[in-house]
Amino acid sequence: MKKIIAVDGPAGAGKSTVSKIVAARLGYTYIDTGAMYRAVALKVLQSGKSAEDVTENIDIKLDEAARIFLEGREVTKEIRTPEVSRGASEVAKFGFVRKKLTELQRAMAARGSVIMDGRDIGTQVLPNADLKIFLTATVEERARRRFLELKEKNLAADFEQIKKEIILRDKQDTEREIAPLAQAEDAILLDSTNLTIEEVVDKILELAE
Ligand code: DC
Repeated sequence: MKKIIAVDGPAGAGKSTVSKIVAARLGYTYIDTGAMYRAVALKVLQSGKSAEDVTENIDIKLDEAARIFLEGREVTKEIRTPEVSRGASEVAKFGFVRKKLTELQRAMAARGSVIMDGRDIGTQVLPNADLKIFLTATVEERARRRFLELKEKNLAADFEQIKKEIILRDKQDTEREIAPLAQAEDAILLDSTNLTIEEVVDKILELAE
């Protein structure tokens, strides 16, 4: 039978890392909704058009390997820059963007069992999900993980700067008027601050059972 797991939480809590692993273990499709907001932001940045113009006929696709395609072109890596991160949080405020992406997300979830991560999945996109997880971690810990990730890739990383950006994104995501980041009433809170990736995955698998 078709099953749906919704994973929401702030930036950097580990949603996509654990959701990907859970999807592989259960044979579900993983859907990264943040990547879709990022694709809209990338199109705005690259085209110089308004978010409204860009959204109307936007073509966004995710494949089974969680690669993302914008107008048929793969943009999986391009959407991960700090500039696109900021832009995604901006375009996510608009009702017309959220409406369009919510429709696409519901259509994807209708096709089979999915684990979908984002900010409003349990509250707005898939309120009837079979399991809802709200995954958090302290700001310090989320910044530390991001810092180590960049270091590992030999990229420039400034801990205080990363922390500032996380605080700003949390603020934008929780304070926006439409579909803000929020824990659904029936979601299970999982604080990953002192847990390993494997421990979080095991916990979700246990709950899914
Ligand atoms: O998860 P992420 O960092 O890739 O998400 C990028 C931005 O998109 C984030 O700042 C908030 C927005 N977003 C959203 O508003 N709703 C979602 N379901 C997913 C992401």
